[in-house]
Amino acid sequence: MEKRKLVELLEDMSMEEKIGQLLQLTGSYFMEDAVLTGPEAEIGVTDQEIACCGSVLSVHGAKELRKIQDRIMKSQPHHIPALFMLDVIHGFRTIFPVPIGQGCTFHPELVKEGASISAKETAVSGVHITFSPMSDLCRDARWGRVMEGTGEDKYLNGVYTKAMVEGYQGKDVKAPYKVGACVKHFAAYGLPEGGREYNTVEVSNRTLFEDYLPAYKEGVKAGAVSVMTSFNTLDRIPSTANRRLMRDVLRDNMGFDGVLISDYGAVMELVNHGIAEDGKEAAKLAINAGVDIEMMSRSYVANLKELIVSGEVEQSVLNEAVMRVLTLKNQLGLFEHPYKDASEEGEQAYILCKEHREAARKCAEESLVLLENDGILPLKKQGQHIAFIGPYVDNKELYGAWALMADGKDAKALSEIVPLLYPNNGYWFEHACNIVPKDSLLSGLASTLETKYTEEEEARAMERAVETAAAADIVVLMMGEHRLQTGEAAAVGDITLPKKQLELLERIAKVNENIVTVLFNGRPLDIREVKEKSSAVLEAWFPGTEGAYAVADTLFGTSNPSGRLSMSFPYCVGQVPVHYDEFATGRPKETEEVENKFCSRYEDIPNAPLYPFGYGLSYADFTYEYRRISKEQLKISKQDDFIEASVTVTNHSDVVGMEVVQLYIQDVKGSVVRPVKELKGFQKICLEPQESKTVTFCVTEEMLRFYDINMEYKSEPGEFRIYIGHDSTQSNGLAFHLTK
Ligand code: BGC
Repeated sequence: MEKRKLVELLEDMSMEEKIGQLLQLTGSYFMEDAVLTGPEAEIGVTDQEIACCGSVLSVHGAKELRKIQDRIMKSQPHHIPALFMLDVIHGFRTIFPVPIGQGCTFHPELVKEGASISAKETAVSGVHITFSPMSDLCRDARWGRVMEGTGEDKYLNGVYTKAMVEGYQGKDVKAPYKVGACVKHFAAYGLPEGGREYNTVEVSNRTLFEDYLPAYKEGVKAGAVSVMTSFNTLDRIPSTANRRLMRDVLRDNMGFDGVLISDYGAVMELVNHGIAEDGKEAAKLAINAGVDIEMMSRSYVANLKELIVSGEVEQSVLNEAVMRVLTLKNQLGLFEHPYKDASEEGEQAYILCKEHREAARKCAEESLVLLENDGILPLKKQGQHIAFIGPYVDNKELYGAWALMADGKDAKALSEIVPLLYPNNGYWFEHACNIVPKDSLLSGLASTLETKYTEEEEARAMERAVETAAAADIVVLMMGEHRLQTGEAAAVGDITLPKKQLELLERIAKVNENIVTVLFNGRPLDIREVKEKSSAVLEAWFPGTEGAYAVADTLFGTSNPSGRLSMSFPYCVGQVPVHYDEFATGRPKETEEVENKFCSRYEDIPNAPLYPFGYGLSYADFTYEYRRISKEQLKISKQDDFIEASVTVTNHSDVVGMEVVQLYIQDVKGSVVRPVKELKGFQKICLEPQESKTVTFCVTEEMLRFYDINMEYKSEPGEFRIYIGHDSTQSNGLAFHLTK
């Protein structure tokens, strides 16, 4: 539709119709014979409001959505189609690894391909927009939603945000099988105090701009059609009412002109936050702050008319918000094709198709991080007695949280796959214990939890497992968190594995010292005991629909692990937040062995995390040689000046392997303190046995910019150091000077 026609449409709409475009309700309101319960019933929307509702969340299925679209267009006076939105966070039905696992691939093209596959499955099921990517930077493993983000690094998160937005939307979101992206949760939702869900965020303006905003900005630059507000406060103002954040920063500064949607119920939550007296004031604050769509609360539909009549909200503010919603519908081509790609044939053809499964398997393989290996891995393909023990041995639910359409039936378990793929060993499989106890204190989880064993059964199963372990050559212990222990509303104060599983480890370690531990989890955990008692540790995250294949192939060496940690594994919970790009402080602790008491350190634990950012082992053996830079001066005044920083990497082993070559830069002195180093680039390369490759990075002045003492984003002349290595602990920098 031409812009002019959109304007005419807007002019012709009644006030109620306009406000209706700003309401988003769940699909339950539109289903035939739906019975509303819980929060959906409590909101109390009227039939008239439902009839004019502009967008719908959390429904899918071509047939159903076509019907809902027909119903909405019939009741809407101008027959305006609805937008359908859904959380497709790491796959629609073909589930990819949880985003933190995808972060560990250090392979943005793969992540982009995954997003494009998810878009296709989502689009054929009738949905137009996914509430993804989550670009929240997070350094605190207690927070449950770390699984939804790609890690602790601002640069890396930005790279993945861009890749996902491009994967979902393609070059034109109107094109077949593309969906709109929604960058969330703006802003700094990943920094709740104490890691506690929905908690207050306290962050300096400089840190906000320097570390927390860049990833969202990459999403905006990549053309994301929508952005979601966060639940938290920033500077004591809830984001959903934060005019400066939304209008000045997001719109003016970052140039976002798409639809801004509140998070679920977040407008009404302004009352709980204590900055709005009631729904009316909440609506006024949110719309004036620039929130276009209100998700699942009705303060707009109940109050905006009155607020406009009384002059507390300008008519132009309403028109502007409605116009953005109509523009988005137009961008998606909904006025001409209200069902867009919704097609039952498409669902049959594409959902879980071979090509999608293969991509998910590849992504899962590259997301696995080998944390320890004394040579026990890869496992021999014949002549061994291997006992696979633990609650993940026969578990098909390897998809983690936020996989709303996932179904265990779509996947295979390790116990099914291993004997088929590697038939020449002897295998035993023992489930051994529940993932978490039935009477688990985890709220919400306890009621839905299905556990395999009663207490007595579990005791017997543990006993049997220990006997099996004693008879085996090697034990592969498959342990982890319950898939719902991470995700929204899943913050914890203890980041160790469930107690029963630790007991299992301890008992098995007494009878067999050849333990390979495979971990399934959505957050970095305190795994000191696992490290101590295992000969190898493979971090599998929640690897998705094809995850069991990826794990089996990696254990047996058909696939060589190439994942690197996108988030540090803390030594223990007392160390969080822990991240590699920290500041030196006035009293730096030079080495872990240092005796000096009066430096920045703990008395009882090391400063260094158990496993640092960027870390991960391979079955190949890589060396880095001839680190060099092309010159030692970079001139600000000389346009397009750059330094080439290179290294020669050699694979000394007899297996093919992929290595992630990482570039870090340190700004030695600034007008404000600068991190000890920052990731500025990486390249994932594949090396044949005995092959060498030279990897070159181009260092430009632009990469050296930061928010200076006056909050101006620019570089400062002086000394810099370049570190090229296989993780963030690389020392021995190469110095260069930035000059005027
Ligand atoms: C979450 C969002 C999600 C929304 C819609 C909220 O509770 O914070 O990330 O997109 O629900 O399901």
